[in-house]
Amino acid sequence: MAQKQACLVLFLQVEKSLSHFLGHRQSAMPIGLLALRHRAGSDLKTNGMVEAATLPIKMCCKAKGLKEYFVSNFPKKGFVMKENVLSQFGPLYHNYSLFGVHNEQLPGIFKLNQQAKEEFLIPYITRAVNILKETNMLISFMELFCADGYYAMVARQLGATIAYGVDNNRDGFFAKASQIASALGVDNIHFFEKDVQDIGTFKPVDIVANLGGLYHVSNPEQILVESYAVAKSFLIVQSVVSMENNSEDYFEAPAPGWSWGSRYSRESFHKMILAKNWNILDYNFNELPGNINKVSMGSVYYLIKK
Ligand SMILES: C[S@@+](CC[C@H](N)C(=O)[O-])C[C@H]1O[C@@H](n2cnc3c(N)ncnc32)[C@H](O)[C@@H]1O
Repeated sequence: MAQKQACLVLFLQVEKSLSHFLGHRQSAMPIGLLALRHRAGSDLKTNGMVEAATLPIKMCCKAKGLKEYFVSNFPKKGFVMKENVLSQFGPLYHNYSLFGVHNEQLPGIFKLNQQAKEEFLIPYITRAVNILKETNMLISFMELFCADGYYAMVARQLGATIAYGVDNNRDGFFAKASQIASALGVDNIHFFEKDVQDIGTFKPVDIVANLGGLYHVSNPEQILVESYAVAKSFLIVQSVVSMENNSEDYFEAPAPGWSWGSRYSRESFHKMILAKNWNILDYNFNELPGNINKVSMGSVYYLIKK
């Protein structure tokens, strides 16, 4: 334990000095540092969910191997901030600092929620890509509910050889995805304006990332199962859950206060996903500070390996 604590202290010092040196705010922390923080922290922190769960969950983040994460994921080309090549698109859903660009981000919930979500999502993508790199020459990645395609682009940055983004453009963010990728110089990325309800027709890929969308559909369990089916090796999941209800049997569709979507509680989502008997490598929970309504405040994260 003392060794692990020393490791985390050392990591935090490296993070602090590098962030300072690079002029990064915490929100703009380079990808490798986010991965590293997760790797160190997940073995050391006490996760409320882990404590609460009596069901056997495999937690296999280990504090060792930090150097490997650091060296392989630090974006070597990303140190120098570029001119804002995204200025022509106006304020965007995501902040693209990880690509070396300080773009204007939409006001309100966007910055806060991105920070909360990527704390877990970037390490999960990193981990899946790194495991596959050991055996695969080519790694395909697909982000479902991709909006402007941020995490599909992040996956390319982290070593996926080809990435896809799928969104039905219901909220209008998807329209800029391809242009943002081109402006950032992210190649081998393709965006499809499709409804995720058609997932049964999608080609299998190595990593499926179902992010920020299950609570938008009225049949989340079905979409989750189909996401797993279309993943060859990894499924990464993030969804919003209610913090107003902690019943493990809670499910509502449409979502409370909406005419569409659905809502689980943190506990009922966990129960639903555990019942699949999938190989959960890691899971987590945090609050989305941008969402002030308790029914949309919780956020769950799962990294699943097939
Ligand atoms: C909250 S955003 C998620 C953005 C991104 N994946 C993230 O996690 O930051 C939800 C996106 O889902 C899209 N969406 C909602 N319902 C959909 C559906 N049935 N099929 C495809 N996209 C959908 C919306 O257009 C929106 O861009």
